[in-house]
Formats: sequence, structure tokens, C-alpha cells
Amino acid sequence: MPKLVVVNRAGEEKTIEADAGLSVMEAIRDDGFDELLALCGGCCSCATCHVFVDPAFADKLPAMSEDENDLLDSSDHRNETSRLSCQVQITSDLDGLRVTIAPED
Ligand code: FES
Repeated sequence: MPKLVVVNRAGEEKTIEADAGLSVMEAIRDDGFDELLALCGGCCSCATCHVFVDPAFADKLPAMSEDENDLLDSSDHRNETSRLSCQVQITSDLDGLRVTIAPED
């Protein structure tokens, strides 16, 4: 099972195991992180699943859709590593991916 390293807003790090095929958002939510609100349930319409992704994995991530890009633009905390975690599916290529939950907007 691919591993995911999740850093919460307090800077605490936790390694979780996630089924390939889940989204990063689902894996984080299912592990009980309550900071990741994911209000729209993964429909790419809320931006409350914003994370910063380890740049080392940048070329392994799926391309960003225009909708995701537009939603991220609505965040004051967007940076070059921002992604909406509901739009990133976990694959074995992403084993060891480190994501940091973005500050709340
Ligand atoms: S859960 Fe709403 S955009 Fe990701």
C-alpha cells in the first residue's frame, strides 16, 4: 500500500497508508484529520482540500485541470506546490508523497 506523509497545520507529521485509487483527500480524511474539510466531497468545487505537495513528486502528479487552477486562485495561500488533494489519485508512483495541509482561507 502506498504511504503518504501528512503534515498538519501544527507542523506535526504522520505517515499513513492509503489504498491506490483513493484520492489524497480521501486518504487524509479517512485517517481522521479534521483540518481538511473537503466540504464538496471531492467535486472540485470548494478548495477546502488545499495541500502543498512535495516538489520532488511534481512530475508524477496528474496534470491540473482548469477548474482546479481557478479554485486554487481563490486561495490567499496558493504557492507553486499547491494542489487540491481531491484531484490527486494515489498510485504506487506516489509512494512516500509528502503533503502539508494548507492554512485555512
Ligand atoms: S474537496 Fe472540494 S475541491 Fe477538493
